[in-house]
Amino acid sequence: MAEHTLVADKTGSLRMDAAAKEARYAELAAHIEATLANEPDLTAAMASIACLLHNGIPYYFWTGFYRRVGPTRLLVGPYQGTLGCLEIDFARGVCGAAASREETLVVEDVHAFPGHIACDSASASEIVVPVFDARGALIAVLDVDSTIPAAFDDVDRHWLERIVGLLATKEAMPVVWTPADEPATR
Ligand code: SME
Repeated sequence: MAEHTLVADKTGSLRMDAAAKEARYAELAAHIEATLANEPDLTAAMASIACLLHNGIPYYFWTGFYRRVGPTRLLVGPYQGTLGCLEIDFARGVCGAAASREETLVVEDVHAFPGHIACDSASASEIVVPVFDARGALIAVLDVDSTIPAAFDDVDRHWLERIVGLLATKEAMPVVWTPADEPATR
């Protein structure tokens, strides 16, 4: 797996041109696909996607999932970055709008988006991509924020929609063992 190791430099210029983005996403998508291939668990898959994307792309500042835990309720899931808001209703923010419309939203200036939730004031732009299960039901959104304005475009949209498509076949694995199953040792 060593040939896949990709860690972005987040200390220099954060911007990438379209060709550099394409090349990086192609490598990352292959790495993510290989990593998830034999893993059926949804949480493990989300955590691995958040990690590989966040560490692989220089302009990503906050990268992670909000899981749908009710008809109109999102709860934070696996993520990388600064502290995220815990709960988001479908009526609020970019995440809520993408979830209720079931479509990807690219926001060039989050401060101009009505109802934007400022979990971290450093965020300037974002993309939110809906995640569906195998039946086509919305199960989560992938939220990526950047500190640079207008960081996301159709290249990000294309690759992120493809990457979250890998989650359609994953499922929350039932807990089949707990420490209580073991004989008491003391
Ligand atoms: N940006 C989101 C809120 C979540 S955080 O930024 C992590 C929104 O407005 O939906």
